[in-house]
Amino acid sequence: MYAAPHVLRTFNSEAVALATLNIPGHRHIPLIYEYLDDSYCLVVQYIEGYNLRNFADQRLEFISEAQALRYMQQVCSALVYMHTRPQGPVLHGDIKLENILIDRYGHLWLIDFGLARTLGLAWGLEPKEPQAIGGTRGYTPPEQFQGVMEPRSDVYALTATLCALLLRASPSLTADATIEKLFKRRPDLSPGLKALIQWGLADNVAARPDARMLLSRIEALLGEAIAPPPARTAPVARAMIGYTSELALARDLISQEHCIALAGPHGIGKTSLASRLIAELAGDRPVF
Ligand SMILES: Nc1ncnc2c1ncn2[C@@H]1O[C@H](COP(=O)(O)OP(=O)(O)OP(=O)(O)O)[C@@H](O)[C@H]1O
Ligand SMILES: [Mg+2]
Repeated sequence: MYAAPHVLRTFNSEAVALATLNIPGHRHIPLIYEYLDDSYCLVVQYIEGYNLRNFADQRLEFISEAQALRYMQQVCSALVYMHTRPQGPVLHGDIKLENILIDRYGHLWLIDFGLARTLGLAWGLEPKEPQAIGGTRGYTPPEQFQGVMEPRSDVYALTATLCALLLRASPSLTADATIEKLFKRRPDLSPGLKALIQWGLADNVAARPDARMLLSRIEALLGEAIAPPPARTAPVARAMIGYTSELALARDLISQEHCIALAGPHGIGKTSLASRLIAELAGDRPVF
């Protein structure tokens, strides 16, 4: 088989990056099953789903801020895993909507490690000189186009991906233009999210967060968006007559199974039984 040298290099980067990430593995990165380097064959976990570009294109309405953040939280956790490998960081190099798959459970998978780089002497693959690294206009940060790639380059691309998801359109060629377009089209976005986007899209690498910082900020914003409902006091248990054996059985079952369902015709006292059980189990603790 003939393949151009750059195709073989891409193939090799992908194989090395995936093999490096396989152990212990991450829930948002497909596993590599086999790498046959003589036949240039890479067998990876098959993800049944479609990419986030198709997902964004199919939507009639803008995605909500909380949903977009939940998706970014998944991919950012994969970035933290990749960037904090004890042997040295693995950089993806081409994060964008097309390279993220979503399965039927809403679980995201980062794919396409063709431009990935493994940094650090432990891998013996560190690029020695600035070199043409490639990427995708609008997603790739300025330093990467100048041949210098580092972990925060992926953070820039992930933030541009978040913008693309919120906008249902590719990011503009410069961060400033992307931010302007986004803020104009999505006046509903919170000040916290806008600040996160400006931070992640900083042209200057030194002003940009690393993946761990970005993840904490995403989680803080999600915490605000989906704060648990206020605690309520346990429902008052009404007096029950003749349910002693059912109550004892339910108490027994819940201690073994941790979760039980009460079923039966209307009006036979299911709610009273449940309230009594909750009152007993919860004590002074809040009940939701
Ligand atoms: N692990 C996987 N499970 C299922 N489908 C996958 C997987 N990896 C890649 N694909 C499918 O193959 C497509 C292209 O894969 P990938 O992004 O790795 O290659 P590419 O170099 O970008 O190729 P292309 O230029 O065709 O987009 C993806 O959009 C996706 O539909
Ligand atoms: Mg791709």
